[in-house]
Amino acid sequence: MTGQMIKVCKADDVSPGNQKIVDVNGMSVGIFNIDGGYYALLNICPHRGAALCEGPQCGTTQKTNDYEFIYGEKDAVVRCSWHGWEFDIRSGAFLADNKIKAKTFEVSVSDNDVFVHI
Ligand code: FES
Repeated sequence: MTGQMIKVCKADDVSPGNQKIVDVNGMSVGIFNIDGGYYALLNICPHRGAALCEGPQCGTTQKTNDYEFIYGEKDAVVRCSWHGWEFDIRSGAFLADNKIKAKTFEVSVSDNDVFVHI
C-alpha cells in the first residue's frame, strides 16, 4: 500500500445501498456501501464529466439469450444521472464497455472510520 490514507466519514454514515459524497484532498469522491463492503469512486463521469456518484445506486438488467428481464447486481451499480451510463462500483468499469472506467480508490475501515487511500 502506498500513498496517503484520508479519513472521510464514519462507516455508520453510509448504510448498505447508499452513498455519501466526501471531499478527499479537494477531490469529490463517492463512498458506497454494498452489503457492508465499502468502495470509493471519483465523482466525475468518464463520459462527459457529470457528478457520477450523485446518480442512483442500483442494479441493472442482466444479459440473457431469451426475451427475459432479469434484474441483478443489486446495489453494485451507479447510474450517471446525465445520460444513464452504468458503472460497476467495485471496479469502476462501464458496463457496456469495460475498457472505459471511472476512477476508483482503495478503501479501508478501522474502528468505524472509513479511509480512502490516494
Ligand atoms: S456524463 Fe455521465 S453518462 Fe454522460
